[in-house]
Amino acid sequence: MQTEIAKASADSLARAREIILNHGAVAFHTETVYGLGANAFDDGAVRRIFELKGRPADNPLIAHVHKDYDISALTDAIPAYAEKLREAFLPGPLTMVYPSAGKVSALVSCGLDTLAIRVPSSLTAQALLKEVNLPVAAPSANRSKHVSPVTARHVYDDFCGEIPLILDGGACEGGIESTVLDCTGEIPVILRAGLVTREMIERVAGACGVYEKKTGERPKSPGMAYKHYSPKCDTAYYGSDELNMALERYECEREAGGTPCFLCESALARSLAQRGCFVLDLGETGEQMAQKLYELLRRAEDAASLLIAIEPTARGGVMDGVFNRLTRAFGRNTDEA
Ligand code: TXA
Ligand code: MG
Repeated sequence: MQTEIAKASADSLARAREIILNHGAVAFHTETVYGLGANAFDDGAVRRIFELKGRPADNPLIAHVHKDYDISALTDAIPAYAEKLREAFLPGPLTMVYPSAGKVSALVSCGLDTLAIRVPSSLTAQALLKEVNLPVAAPSANRSKHVSPVTARHVYDDFCGEIPLILDGGACEGGIESTVLDCTGEIPVILRAGLVTREMIERVAGACGVYEKKTGERPKSPGMAYKHYSPKCDTAYYGSDELNMALERYECEREAGGTPCFLCESALARSLAQRGCFVLDLGETGEQMAQKLYELLRRAEDAASLLIAIEPTARGGVMDGVFNRLTRAFGRNTDEA
């Protein structure tokens, strides 16, 4: 199969519609990361998404809809705080988990009685969702466990020859996946941190919890149980007070003939570069780090044999999401090895 990369146009959108209505999958730009979408009503198409990604069968998908889509047909009982949050943040990088009305394929939610719904703000995503006028089940368009894609090229690298079309909207400005928010209880609870932060949700909803899995319990957002977002090169992670150890590791790798590389925030990146080290600069703010993280992880796997991350010192806001992805990518924060 040829994999075409095309900007959204009348032609490419008509082709995307044709593919999705005929049980196929199309990758598309969103403001967070690229998604790999199929008709959420279509069991076979949803199954194909799991197969393409090599995704564990107990990790549910998000249903994406356009901004005028009436989600009341897909959900039961939307709490009042959720209406306020929708008003404040949608379209945008916030996924809301509701009691499901059971209308989409049961495979989307992996048999859970809830449904995650997202209304992306990306013009490319909106154009596609309008064109099909259906809920589109879409995980990030990467192979399971690999780094999420933030350019059409990244999607192509993972799925060349296996999907017919990638709708190219350029680089994703957000850079990490949407915040996943459980809206089935008395107050909203963050299941996956992202660009819509706890502070932002609290301001609108009055309260916001953060889900923490109890030992032994099945996680509420099953995706969070897996090692994720990992580059294919070797990785190491050091605290901001462990720089000497990190430098020793760098030297060891270099002496062994490898190509070590640091990943760290700007101030440290500048001083390591002055010492002649190979460095990828994450930026200074949470927003910058979110935007650059996956791009740099993908770059590292082509350029380095060992990627050494040094813990950033920035805290709060979007950094919750950045830390979550960073520690998962470096195998620091998971149930699994
Ligand atoms: O920004 C995003 O959310 C991107 C773009 C493509 O929209 N999508 C994305 O999908 O990140 P994925 O499949 O890589 O991650 C979906 C997350 C997983 O952690 C999954 O467990 C959780 O959402 N999730 C999906 N449905 C859920 C549900 N009913 N209850 C709890 N968690 C759910
Ligand atoms: Mg993903």
